[in-house]
This record gives sequence, C-alpha cells and structure tokens, in this order.
Amino acid sequence: MIFPLGYASIALLLTGASARPHSIFQELHVNGVSQGHVIGIRAPYYNYPTTNVSAKDIICNGVTHAWNLPLPDKVIPVPAGAQVTTEWHASIYGANDPKWANAEPIGADHRGPILAYLAKIPDALQENIEGLDWFKVYQEGFDNKEGLWATEKLMRDKGKVSFKIPECIEPGQYLLRAEIIALHGAGKLNGAQFFLSCAQLEIKGEGKVVPAAIAKFPGAYDATDRGIRVSIKSTGPNPTDLKYYPPGPPVFTCQSPNLPWDPTTVITNPGTIPKWEQCGGYGYTGDSACIAPAECVEINGYYHQCQ
Ligand SMILES: *[C@@H]1O[C@H](CO)[C@@H](O)[C@H](O)[C@H]1NC(C)=O
Repeated sequence: MIFPLGYASIALLLTGASARPHSIFQELHVNGVSQGHVIGIRAPYYNYPTTNVSAKDIICNGVTHAWNLPLPDKVIPVPAGAQVTTEWHASIYGANDPKWANAEPIGADHRGPILAYLAKIPDALQENIEGLDWFKVYQEGFDNKEGLWATEKLMRDKGKVSFKIPECIEPGQYLLRAEIIALHGAGKLNGAQFFLSCAQLEIKGEGKVVPAAIAKFPGAYDATDRGIRVSIKSTGPNPTDLKYYPPGPPVFTCQSPNLPWDPTTVITNPGTIPKWEQCGGYGYTGDSACIAPAECVEINGYYHQCQ
C-alpha cells in the first residue's frame, strides 16, 4: 500500500489549496442511535464549499455542488424533544478515507461557527426546497470560556455536534439544515465558506408551536453580515476577548417561541480598512472591508481602493 499513499501525498502537494480539508454533514444520530451513513441526508458528494449566500446552494446544496446520488429515499423518524447528533467528515465516505486522513473532520485552520435550522415541508422527499420557512435550533460560534471555535470543538469531538429538537413544535415532515461556516478567508467579501447538507425528518409529537423568527434561504444571510464578512486569525491561539456574532435569526426555544426577527436589520461589519488604502486587486491577500461609509472601488485589476 506504499504506492497509493505516496501518490495521494504527491497529489496533495500538487493541488495545494484545492485539497483543503473541508467537511460534509453525512450522518444523523437520534438519541444516540446512528440512522446510517448518508441515509436520509441530501449530502453533496464532494466537500467543496459554497460561498454565495444569494445562490440556491445556500438552501441545501445540490445545485452547483451536486448531491451524492441517488437522492435519499428515507425519512428519519425523530421524536420531538430528541437529542440529535450531526456527524461531519472531510470525505463523503466517512472518517476513514485515507485521502483526507490529515484533515478530519475539517482542517484546523477552518475556524468558525456551526448552526442548524429546521423547516416544515409538505413531503421531506420532495425535490423542491425553495421558499421554506426556516427557524434556527442550534448555534455555536466562539466559546470565550474555553477559547474555542465551534469547529475546534468539532475536531475535539471527532466530527460530532449534538443539540435538541424542540419538544413543542408541530409534528410533521421537516428538513434539518446543518451548517459550518469557515471564516479563515472571510475578511474578503464572499470569502466565508459554507458547508451544509439537509436531513429529511419526520418529527413526531403533540406540539402545537409554529416559530415566529423565520428565515428564508436565500435571504437570511447577507454577504456583509458581521458574522459572515469578518476577519479572524486562522492560526495561533484565539484571542480570549474575541466577540463573534453568528448570522441569521435568534435560536428558537420553546420558552420564548415568539422572538421576532427582521432580516433587513442585519448588522453589517463596519470594516477595517481606512479610506484611501488598498482593499483588493491581483495578488492582494488582505481584508477587503472598508471602514464604512467608504466602499472598495476597483481602480484597475491590480489596485482596489477604499473611497
Ligand atoms: C450569487 O448568486 C446570485 C443568484 O444566483 C447571482 O445573481 C450573483 O451574481 C452571485 N454572486 C456571485 C459573487 O457569484
């Protein structure tokens, strides 16, 4: 087996950045029981990120980042109130793909938040997933106590992140949208990397609550949101005074189900680059967010300036 391993590492060297350690949500556990590998989950077959928050891939992937086919024909039964665990790996083939062994479950520099949303859908197997009303059931950004990003905890926990399905929501067919946002390149507009898949659920229970803080995808996220266009350090120790605000609506809870949310009130990152300084151009690798109200203007291919 020396040859294939050697070949793989040469391929890694040659492809450089394109062999970056990305991640795919590919398995769901319900109250600790695995529902099977890529069963009931519309997972992309390849781990490449989507970066355009206005494109349809931000719903559940599957457009430019094709789903692993055939589409799942299983709907996962979940009791309302259950603890679910999303499992992430760099390869669609799970934890043991040698090609991604040094990048499991995501590359160490791919720091950022992890979020999860639910949306009711007439039939969890239907192909059309546009226009759904999503509400957020989980988020973790940066933990100031532990000094860890959600992705760093994901690495520590071998690709698993758990949260509760609210016990008070109406029963029925749902999609669960689980998402990692990697922020190592997010100082630039459209530099944040979104990794996401949707699981097909049948939630069982007696709940009656319809959440008020609803998000549309696309629509919930703005490319300039302070949780999306934001400079973070991708290596070295995390600053303990770091303040990070994950994007999207507040997390729904049965205790306060009527929290409103208005996506037009998204808070934009005020930017870091002063007026008249460089914010882009060929070969430029720094941030692109100008201190408002200045905007990044393309003077020529080599030089963009905050004006
Ligand atoms: C993002 O997607 C939208 C909708 O498809 C498209 O109009 C826009 O040009 C895209 N933006 C970038 C930067 O690719």
